[in-house]
Amino acid sequence: TQISLIGAPTDIGAGSRGASMGPEALRVANIIPVLQSHGLNVTDRGNLSGPANPWLPPVDGYRHLDQVVAWNQLVHNAVYAELQQKRLPILLGGDHCLGLGSISAVARHCRDVGKKLRVLWLDAHADFNTHALTPSGNIHGMPVACLCGYGPEVLTSIGGQVPAINPKWVRQIGIRSVDAGEKRLVHEAGLDVFDMRFIDEMGMRAAMELALALVDANTHLHVSFDVDFLDPDIAPGVGTTVRGGPTYREAQLCMEMIADTGRLASLDVMELNPAFDVRNKTAEVAVDLIESLFGKSTLMRKAAA
Ligand code: ARG
Ligand code: MN
Ligand code: MN
Ligand code: MN
Repeated sequence: TQISLIGAPTDIGAGSRGASMGPEALRVANIIPVLQSHGLNVTDRGNLSGPANPWLPPVDGYRHLDQVVAWNQLVHNAVYAELQQKRLPILLGGDHCLGLGSISAVARHCRDVGKKLRVLWLDAHADFNTHALTPSGNIHGMPVACLCGYGPEVLTSIGGQVPAINPKWVRQIGIRSVDAGEKRLVHEAGLDVFDMRFIDEMGMRAAMELALALVDANTHLHVSFDVDFLDPDIAPGVGTTVRGGPTYREAQLCMEMIADTGRLASLDVMELNPAFDVRNKTAEVAVDLIESLFGKSTLMRKAAA
């Protein structure tokens, strides 16, 4: 596999500053040599360059809408260009508003080549707000809604088709913080959510078996990994921690089961915020988990029958 790293150093959609330092923290945590150690061919495309963060209050329920549009267009173009070259893009965020640019590019690529898309959204949050529902105006709480067509036209139309994706293609895992109005919209849209209660009761294994059901040879599997998916005990370096997330072992199993499908074709690593981290340990844990996502296993394993 030929991998391309794309840095998107911005916190334009977030409620605190610092996710703009995420790409460099992942490089410092050795993301490139770690991937190379698994025989992967890695090219670092460097960082995109977009508008600065003016740090203004929300207007009509959106903070920094124009700048969010500009960054997402840059991300869309960069991710789409890599997919056209049959490469596997890894977006190094940056806040999660950029999942819109990334996944709209993946959806457009899937239309081009006739693949089925499955999106695994690993997150503490559903990111399914609209400007009317959001408690914060922060657009990193809205990308899944925008992808599904709920949002302003400047955002929903970035991939050239509205909606960019069908909610039926999404599986959310690890969810434990959903705002009151957002809850109703998640239900109305019919999103498939494996929340922390599901994981507590049924286990990560059952959640992932269901989330990966019907993934086949014609499926493009996209993983959007918001680092706040992880329990804050192991991953304090994010802007919006929510206690009670997956443990290190649960997260490893999640990544290993995705790797076993052999269908991972694009990845976002989002919301890492070194300003809240402790000696870069959250970046290191993220790289550790990404290593499993790309096939690191303790022992050789027989393929499941
Ligand atoms: N639901 C909250 C909001 O909309 C938090 C969103 C957090 N999203 C994230 N990508 N970290 O403001
Ligand atoms: Mn309005
Ligand atoms: Mn989150
Ligand atoms: Mn998120």
